Amino acid sequence: MLYKRTHMCGELRLADEGKNVVLNGWVAKARSLGGLVFVDLRDKTGITQVTFNEDVPAEIIEMAKSLRSEYCIGVKGTVKERSSKNSNLPTGDIEVFADDLVIYSKSETPPIYIKDDDNVDDNLRLKYRYLDLRKQKMQRNLTFRHKIAKCCRDYFDENGFTEVETPMLIKPTPEGARDYIVPSRVHNGSFYALPQSPQMFKQLLMVGGTDRYMQIVKCFRDEDLRADRQPEFTQIDCEMSFAGVDDVIEMQEGFLRRVMKEVKGIDVETPFPRMTYAEAMERYGSDKPDTRFDIELQKLNDVFEGCGFEVFTKTLAEGGDIRGICVPGAASEFSRKKIDKLVDEVKHYGAKGLVWIKYEESGISSSVGKFFSEDELRAVLDKCGANAGDIVFIVSGTAKVTYDSLGFLRRRVAGQLGLLDDNQFNFLWVVDFPMFEQDEDGNIKAMHHPFTQPKLDELYKLDTDILSLNADAYDIVLNGVELGGGSVRIHDKDLQARMFRALGLTDEECQEKFGFLIEAFKYGAPPHAGLAYGLDRLVMLLLGEKSIREVIAFPKNQNAECPVCEAPAPAGEGQLEELGIELVAAE
Ligand code: AMO
Repeated sequence: MLYKRTHMCGELRLADEGKNVVLNGWVAKARSLGGLVFVDLRDKTGITQVTFNEDVPAEIIEMAKSLRSEYCIGVKGTVKERSSKNSNLPTGDIEVFADDLVIYSKSETPPIYIKDDDNVDDNLRLKYRYLDLRKQKMQRNLTFRHKIAKCCRDYFDENGFTEVETPMLIKPTPEGARDYIVPSRVHNGSFYALPQSPQMFKQLLMVGGTDRYMQIVKCFRDEDLRADRQPEFTQIDCEMSFAGVDDVIEMQEGFLRRVMKEVKGIDVETPFPRMTYAEAMERYGSDKPDTRFDIELQKLNDVFEGCGFEVFTKTLAEGGDIRGICVPGAASEFSRKKIDKLVDEVKHYGAKGLVWIKYEESGISSSVGKFFSEDELRAVLDKCGANAGDIVFIVSGTAKVTYDSLGFLRRRVAGQLGLLDDNQFNFLWVVDFPMFEQDEDGNIKAMHHPFTQPKLDELYKLDTDILSLNADAYDIVLNGVELGGGSVRIHDKDLQARMFRALGLTDEECQEKFGFLIEAFKYGAPPHAGLAYGLDRLVMLLLGEKSIREVIAFPKNQNAECPVCEAPAPAGEGQLEELGIELVAAE
């Protein structure tokens, strides 16, 4: 038997009093009190209390008494005002007096509690994700994600964008991470790659005249997992023909304004601030600065010139930097133990140590006090703009080490001091990224990707100082997280060939990897530019969640496994044979 539902469990109110309703859902809680049975009935919208009393036939009461958590049931009844109201529930003013009941399916004792704030082990949650998803929070997250996706499709549709699907089985993309590869049965020994992004195909769509493209699309990257990274994630991917930096930025600001209004009810002001990459690094030590709080980096090379502390003088002699941050009013917050923890943490960013100076009413103290006179320490505090009550942290090393360590530290201490407000949304464009960067082995690689257009008036730097060449590339940052990134693309085949050469690719390698794109550029490629957001990250940030796993229905765990279906798993021998693959023991 299947009851035709009339209402959802979360929507009944006092105004529905007297209505005959039919609800379908799961038993969140059932308790028997003498002849009465109370059931909290749950579906994705919320909970309604259902009451079975002596007016219902004996067999129904008996059935109601047998109900246990997570039984899936249907109830017919009448909405009545509750005598003792529950102000914690939106439906707390009413209850449904049942007159009929059907048990669709019984449940064993569930291995996890269906409770939003249950602190169960993450792997257990992910293994029983279908139960975890019954939680109100998870249903709210999925619905919220759906609303953002819908808003996205509406907005871009209204602005002349066409959603086009691009292939999932492609040649490796040069996006920088490792590819997931898929063996070909038809071409033994050859492999497809799952796309790290639809980058080259969306550019081909521009050559194909699509003009404005968007796609909500799965991307795959085999990289180390973090709270805001998954091996498979979703992009909102966009591209526009006949567009430059300002056109893309204006279009995307319109989108973000619309999303914020529709799903959060917040009017955000546009245009968003723009900051060059160089300024972001110098002021915040990060290309994705969190601007919700003011702590900024201060270069201290000149105050430490010729000082008596060998670590610093040696750094300066080697061409390194010394930078610091001043944390206002926090001198007394940072005990020795707390600082020691921070020292350990900045070591992950290459810092050899962390110097601190506390400026308290009682005087100045420092981890390197014995190397400096009070006047010297005071000069450092002055340079950092410190006042009584403040603490200054200092790191020395290469410019990168000082940026990375202090960029991390400013956000870490802001978190510890409660300065990160989840309800404040600071959007920021970081623009003018360098075209290239050097990896640890000294190789030149594209900072964004090799299709990014360098600043055309700086092209001479290709032959003089390649690392100082900037690009028409931009990132949209929200509260210290890179929400999206994009660029103006090269649409001239000769310039594209020059960039490939600068990256150390031979003509054969270019042909092998990107031949089809270079070929396409021979046939009237329009100027174009675009951007892609991480949809998971956008949803996570707008919900105030700390991990994108909370906004993905079936995410991978820290080991890139799917705990529900237990992927990855060995392939059957027949399958491997068909694919021409023989396994050898990993070294
Ligand atoms: P990019 O590599 O910067 O650019 O990716 C765009 C956005 O995708 C999100 N993202 C991720 N989200 C979750 N898990 C991951 N592993 C992950 N990797 C990236 C981020 C990021 O800002 N084709 C270009 C875009 C373009 O140039 O138009 C690209 O993919 O939010």
